[in-house]
Amino acid sequence: MPHPDHEKNRAAWNEMVDLHVNHPEYRTKEFLEGRSSLKRIELEALGDIRGLRLLHLMCQFGLDTLSWVREGAIVTGVDISDKSIQRANELKIKSGLEAEFIRADVLDLVGVIDRKFDVVFQSYGTHVWISDIARWAEVVAHYLKPGGTFFMVDDHPIGVIFLDPPQDYFSKEPERDTNAVDYCDWNYRIKGELVEWQHPLSEIINALIDAGLTIEHVEEYNYGYYNVAEGWYSKDGEYWYPPGGPTKYPLMFSLKARK
Ligand SMILES: C[S@@+](CC[C@H](N)C(=O)[O-])C[C@H]1O[C@@H](n2cnc3c(N)ncnc32)[C@H](O)[C@@H]1O
Repeated sequence: MPHPDHEKNRAAWNEMVDLHVNHPEYRTKEFLEGRSSLKRIELEALGDIRGLRLLHLMCQFGLDTLSWVREGAIVTGVDISDKSIQRANELKIKSGLEAEFIRADVLDLVGVIDRKFDVVFQSYGTHVWISDIARWAEVVAHYLKPGGTFFMVDDHPIGVIFLDPPQDYFSKEPERDTNAVDYCDWNYRIKGELVEWQHPLSEIINALIDAGLTIEHVEEYNYGYYNVAEGWYSKDGEYWYPPGGPTKYPLMFSLKARK
């Protein structure tokens, strides 16, 4: 049975994806001209991936997935949103790159793909959409070959305490937003409901350990990965600082683990 709140998010992502494909923030045109959408952190963390099989979870319309293909990986991208997978397949054809895209809820993936991977990857805006982190970690572990690498880079969960009003870092209740704006197009109000879950860093780390992975490295960063609000600035076009400069608390974290 599909998860009812994940299905609400699926509808919302179906609604949002075209805004993203066409938004300057995603630089789809530059990607088609040969620019990689991958950022420094994941490129440095995964290094030379030529010839490796990579599973990209929650890939949206496949920009990063196809950029990993340009790095030499053999890639499968998965996303819950039908429209995103449709756009990913269109981008695949336009770019002339080879990849496989599958529409599935990450929590229901086991059985949908029957291969194992050298690398499982997900990035920038993913963990908040997962209702069950323990199950998610089992899926990650399931799809890794022995010795394979998991890498994620994402918003730091501490961010919720700096919202107005602040939210509970340890909240177990999903945050339901019926008035959300798109994170690229701040003038666009999403019609459906967005449902997000809060996961303390310890919950993510312990879920991966419990699923049988060895955590190799955790990093925290005093900058973010997109232009969050008016006044934010970027030095490199990849990472973003609030008006006051580097923050005194983490905006992102990354995590590398091995099976
Ligand atoms: C912010 S994007 C992250 C990917 C990438 N950083 C990007 O910006 O294109 C989040 C993606 O997660 C997908 N997603 C949300 N819930 C999901 C789920 N339960 N299973 C698989 N994908 C999901 C959404 O459809 C969306 O494409």
